[in-house]
Amino acid sequence: MMKIVSGNSNRPLAEAIGAYLGLPLVKATVKRFNDMEVFVEIQENVRGQDMFIIQSTSFPTNDHLMELLIIIDALRRASAKRITAVIPYFGYARQDRKPGPRTPISAKLVANIITHAGADKVLTMDLHAGQIQGFFDIPTDNLFAGPVFVRDIKQHNNLSNTIVVSPDVGGVVRARALAKRLDVPLAIVDKRRERAGESEVMNVIGDVAGKSCILVDDIIDSGGTLVNAADALLAKGAKDVSAYITHGVLSGGAVARITGSKLKTLVITDSILPTEAVRIAKNIRVIPIAPLIGEAMGRMNREESVSSLFE
Ligand code: R5P
Repeated sequence: MMKIVSGNSNRPLAEAIGAYLGLPLVKATVKRFNDMEVFVEIQENVRGQDMFIIQSTSFPTNDHLMELLIIIDALRRASAKRITAVIPYFGYARQDRKPGPRTPISAKLVANIITHAGADKVLTMDLHAGQIQGFFDIPTDNLFAGPVFVRDIKQHNNLSNTIVVSPDVGGVVRARALAKRLDVPLAIVDKRRERAGESEVMNVIGDVAGKSCILVDDIIDSGGTLVNAADALLAKGAKDVSAYITHGVLSGGAVARITGSKLKTLVITDSILPTEAVRIAKNIRVIPIAPLIGEAMGRMNREESVSSLFE
């Protein structure tokens, strides 16, 4: 039988997934000692069960990661049959290569720790780089928010005048896949510093004049990438600019930067628990992701294919 345990990072998402699957969350305590050590107690029998832990490793990243590890350990020691770490937003994913000498590959380290703690499988979504799947030596499914975004884009846009835009060269594969699904053209914002000491120039590759632009990305953190790209597109005559970004990290003054920008709408998922500021922001909309994750979990439990969810 499958059972769901929630960490503290996004309990409303865990509850929504539970509701989708018709399952209550396992009774468990995930709390702190006075010195902030994490303590976990699973308060019902899980012996021989197919366990799913829902925990995005979002801010505060290290605390939420530690909670995930300790829940895995508690379940393993309680003789769970199988433990799947459901990590809708996988923190540390941006540290997936050495950007310079003597720097870490922290995404690989985190994958190692999760595996060593005792996870048998990982379910995640829109990994910063698909190759991170290979950092785990246990089965790892990487869901795409793309199909959910496509449905929403079709509801809210006139596709005959729409163009999908990658906000940087690194995101072209992701943007191209969305443009193909929507059967619309693709443009790219190419940020360049021609000479050291000179300011960056935003070149737009593709004709966006008079078009409704849809920027796509995996993560919005400070919002700098997005707002700069939106300004560059409007300077090239774009009619309006919206954005679809899977993980709303939105740290620091990001929400104020978005609300103060010329962006028509920013659409994110609830892979990371939206703050109050996000919920009330006039140009940010949050799409629920529980049905996609819940469907994948149900299929994993029944040993069915999840690949049709990628389409
Ligand atoms: C970078 O490679 C990612 O795909 C995002 O573009 C980046 O993390 C966004 O960061 P920020 O919102 O701080 O510009």
